[in-house]
Amino acid sequence: MNIPYTFDLAPSTWIPSRYDNHIIRKLSSMKGQYYDTQAFDRLLAQSDPLLYEVYELSRPSVAGELLHGISIIHPGKVGNEYYMTKGHFHAVLDTAELYYCLGGNGMMVMETPEGDWAVEGFTAGKTLYIPPRWAHRSVNVGDLDLALLFIYPGHAGHDYGTIERQGFRKLVLDEGGEARVVDNPRWVHLEQIKSLLL
Ligand SMILES: [Fe+2]
Repeated sequence: MNIPYTFDLAPSTWIPSRYDNHIIRKLSSMKGQYYDTQAFDRLLAQSDPLLYEVYELSRPSVAGELLHGISIIHPGKVGNEYYMTKGHFHAVLDTAELYYCLGGNGMMVMETPEGDWAVEGFTAGKTLYIPPRWAHRSVNVGDLDLALLFIYPGHAGHDYGTIERQGFRKLVLDEGGEARVVDNPRWVHLEQIKSLLL
């Protein structure tokens, strides 16, 4: 309906009082995303844990609209790499996104097609503006759910494939109880490869 609306966010669960889509992502949908493939396979052999959930409010995917919802990344690790979202570029690269942290403790790992990278921390109340062109992945580095409100342009779309193929340049790992940002040894810079081939 094209009339203004409000919704409430339940404290502590942060589930919105209205939503249209509830997306769940389990470990099995993250094949190839965690650097420790043995730890991934071991965990998957035992169970298929729920890593994160997204509650979306449905709006038309057109310029002028703002798509919005809540993502909740649960606490946990695959080996020593924290639970995280798949991460994506926007299909329309020149589109931004805004995140507001409702609760929990996390990081946003970001990079551009040119290979620039950035990592910002999340605690309750922290607001992050991601300019156009920056791929983004949320990581839960705490013991509680990480809950994030997101808002992005209706026509942005998602490109998951680039990250599935090349990974993120940086990983966030638990090293002795501390979250550390380290180089991803398996990161491939597709833009660089393309320029070498041309
Ligand atoms: Fe996004």
